[in-house]
Amino acid sequence: MTEHAPDVSRETPQLDGRARREAIATDRVSRETPGAEITNSDRDGDTPIAREAQAAVRVMNIAQEKWPRPVTTRVITVANQKGGVGKTTTTVNLAAALAARGLKVLVIDLDPQGNASTALGIAHPSGTPSIYDVLLSGSSLAEVSAEVDIAEEFWCVPATIDLAGADIELTAQVAREYRLQRAVEVRLGQEPELDYIFVDCPPSLGLLTLNALVAAREVLIPIQCEYYALEGLAQLLGTVELVRAHLNPALAVSTVLLTMYDSRTRLADQVADDVRAHFNELVIKAVIPRNVRVSEAPGFGQTVITYDPGSRGAVSYVNAARELAERGAAPSGGQDARSANSGPGQRESSAAEVK
Ligand SMILES: Nc1ncnc2c1ncn2[C@@H]1O[C@H](COP(=O)(O)OP(=O)(O)O)[C@@H](O)[C@H]1O
Ligand SMILES: [Mg+2]
Repeated sequence: MTEHAPDVSRETPQLDGRARREAIATDRVSRETPGAEITNSDRDGDTPIAREAQAAVRVMNIAQEKWPRPVTTRVITVANQKGGVGKTTTTVNLAAALAARGLKVLVIDLDPQGNASTALGIAHPSGTPSIYDVLLSGSSLAEVSAEVDIAEEFWCVPATIDLAGADIELTAQVAREYRLQRAVEVRLGQEPELDYIFVDCPPSLGLLTLNALVAAREVLIPIQCEYYALEGLAQLLGTVELVRAHLNPALAVSTVLLTMYDSRTRLADQVADDVRAHFNELVIKAVIPRNVRVSEAPGFGQTVITYDPGSRGAVSYVNAARELAERGAAPSGGQDARSANSGPGQRESSAAEVK
């Protein structure tokens, strides 16, 4: 029996279409789980074998779980004007985890790079019907939505490189900050059953991100566990405040997610502590580790949830998605009511404390 390093997982069969959906629906973890005798330290979870075994058990248990549907559609903008902090990775993996459990999910790719479209397996060469047509030619979101083959009710509005000029093109348009909001309202009129809409933002605070903030009720901020992580956040929070004051009173920072956590560095712990001190209960308890499977997945046009469901990255994103779902659950009794009390609406003040 070979000991695997935690990041090195076994080959994942590349499945297509229906087969892939079925595999994900049952959370079939195809790779072998090391069956070595479990020692005390394994039980404590501090060896690679124990971690893998625990991950496999968790993945199997998660397959049985039923996640709550939100009362109304949650429109969540994933924003941070820094590049490379995990916005796109977070968007596609949370969305995939929720969709794989039967929730109805739409991802809107608002970054000209189109990385979210790529990770969801949607081709997006220039000229593909895309979010550009919605923002600048009045197409509807329904017209440009593509089906994501991870789940039955999972869609992506792709972005193409045409979007690169949109910030400037939008400047000349009427109601330029409200373009996405109006399109989202129309979509929700047609499909009120949608549970989640995620908007993946570009790394800037220009008109595209502004459109995303005006269209959403919630902002999710991914924060990379690295030096300078908090730098620039005041600017983002200031923008959120401005949008709330002038364009979209419903907006609030509802969620912060720690990404690319490297347990080998003390710095990562310091950053995590700082972020928790600032954002308190807005911070999702599940922390996303730096994990090579997460970074490999987009190269195969996949999320890590589908690429390697047993990897630490996938399990962490599933845990984060579960927390997100539970926080936004209907306030109908015991536990749900408790999570609703600390829900988005009630948590605005703690976000405002950060300057
Ligand atoms: N948890 C992680 N572990 C390893 N690599 C990651 C992780 N999260 C993101 N990455 C990689 O880091 C890079 C930046 O992530 P990305 O989600 O594209 O950031 P953003 O959208 O904020 O620019 C990508 O190459 C991505 O694959
Ligand atoms: Mg991105």
